[in-house]
Amino acid sequence: MSKHQTVRRYTPRSLAVLDTPVVALTAYTTPMARLLDPHCDLLLVGDSLGMVVYGMDSTLAVSVEMMIAHGQAVVRGSQKACVAVDMPFGSYQESPQQAFRVAADIMARTGAGCIKLEGGQEMAPTIEFLVQRGIPVIGHIGLKPQAVHAHGGFRTVGRGSEAEQVMADALAVEKAGAFAVVIESTMEPLSRAITEALGILTIGIGASPQCDGQILVAEDMLGLFPDFTPRFVRKFANLGQEVDRAVADYAHAVRTRTFPGPAECVGMPKAD
Ligand code: KIV
Repeated sequence: MSKHQTVRRYTPRSLAVLDTPVVALTAYTTPMARLLDPHCDLLLVGDSLGMVVYGMDSTLAVSVEMMIAHGQAVVRGSQKACVAVDMPFGSYQESPQQAFRVAADIMARTGAGCIKLEGGQEMAPTIEFLVQRGIPVIGHIGLKPQAVHAHGGFRTVGRGSEAEQVMADALAVEKAGAFAVVIESTMEPLSRAITEALGILTIGIGASPQCDGQILVAEDMLGLFPDFTPRFVRKFANLGQEVDRAVADYAHAVRTRTFPGPAECVGMPKAD
């Protein structure tokens, strides 16, 4: 028997029976996954990495290879959280068969526990195709960042008659067999009503405290992504300011030749 204690990783099944709200954050790298894993039930390798890590102005140019490389990094850096990897734009919308090939590649090469894809009623046949072939799926409704141009920008959806469409999307995703659905940037009463109507997990981002779990982009809630802060983000820290201060101190130490000092060098005489 191994002397190393093995930690049981959450699976789509065990997430579904948690008796506390699902704690989820995005993660894109091994060091960040190591920091988040002890506290999170679900880590999402979101295609938001295009904007947060690569400085793109939308998620549209993110590739499958990028998702696989970051998915591998996050699986390596985590032990306990279930890891979900986003299917990027253009990698699944063409046909259920295309979606299966890409999802299988992502699952096989990253070791992730599930994939996430954006879409409601229109993606239901694809979700069903994947689930029937053994791929656990998280749906994503409400604001769908891959459809930002169709939405007319990053905005709250589900006002007025739009609410019926979002509810229909939620029901279709559940019927197709997804085990969870992310609800992004929707009116609160609508997200609450969806959570009441569905038997699967609802994971909110700009949705409702009544959702079965919450997710945020880690860099947003840590204050590390200054470009744009949606209203639904709460900054639990302001690490950007802390990094700024630390780098300014480093630059000063280098310029004044006080770094490296005797403790950081080998055989350097101590100053008197
Ligand atoms: O890509 C992403 O980070 C996401 C979350 C915002 C849910 O889809």
